[in-house]
Amino acid sequence: MTAAPITIAVLASGRGSNLQALLDAIASGALDARIAGVFSDKPTCGAIAIARAHGLHAVAIRPRECTDRAAHDEALFSEIAAVQPDLIVCAGYMRIIGAAALRRFEGRMINIHPSLLPRYPGLDTHARALAAGDAEHGASVHAVIPELDAGPLLAQVRIPVLAGDDAETLSRRLLPREHALLVATARLFAQRRVQLHAGHALLDGHRLPAPLQLDAANHLIGA
Ligand code: GRF
Repeated sequence: MTAAPITIAVLASGRGSNLQALLDAIASGALDARIAGVFSDKPTCGAIAIARAHGLHAVAIRPRECTDRAAHDEALFSEIAAVQPDLIVCAGYMRIIGAAALRRFEGRMINIHPSLLPRYPGLDTHARALAAGDAEHGASVHAVIPELDAGPLLAQVRIPVLAGDDAETLSRRLLPREHALLVATARLFAQRRVQLHAGHALLDGHRLPAPLQLDAANHLIGA
C-alpha cells in the first residue's frame, strides 16, 4: 500500500517563490505532498496571492489585529492546526515564533534560511557573507526551535561567491538553489524518512552527523 501524500502548511511573509517551488514540484510529481494551507502575517504578500491563484486555503492575520505577540501566534497557529499538517514549512516568515506555538508542532516545523548556518542567522545574510569575504555562500533547511535560525540542520546547498558579486547578484543566484534544496528536503519528509528532535535530526532512524548537501543534480548526497 502506498502511503498518503503528506500534508504541508506553508508560513510566509514575502513573495512566495519557495511556495511556488513546492507547488511546481507537486504538480510535476517530484513531491508527493498536498499544500493544505498558506498562512501569513501579511494579507497582501505574494505568497498569499499565489495561494489564492491556486485555489489554496489562505489565511493571513495581521499582528495588529491581536492584542500581543502570543495572541497572534495563538490565532495563526490555531488556523494551522485546523488543517492538521504533517509538516509546517516556514519560507520567509518574518516573525519570531513563540515557544508555545513551537511546542504544539514540535518535530513538524522546518525553516529555509539563506545562509550556511550556523553562519549568519537573522537578516542581511548575503551582505554579511560578502562583507566577511566568504568564498562560498548557501542556504540551509533546519528544524525550528525557540532560538532564531538555530535548530538542528537538515540540509544545505552551497554556491561560490564570484568576483564582482553584490548582495543582489548573490541572492539571485542562490534563490533557485534554495528552491531545489527545499523541495529535496520536503521529499525526505514525504517519504517519511525524517524525525526532528529539539537537539538533532534523524534520517532513517540515524542521527545526522552533519547536514546533507545538495549536489548539482539536486540530490541530497548520502540520503
Ligand atoms: C528566502 O530567501 C528564504 O530563504 C528566506 O526568505 C526568502 C523567502 O523568499 N527565509 P520567498 O518569499 O519564498 O520568495
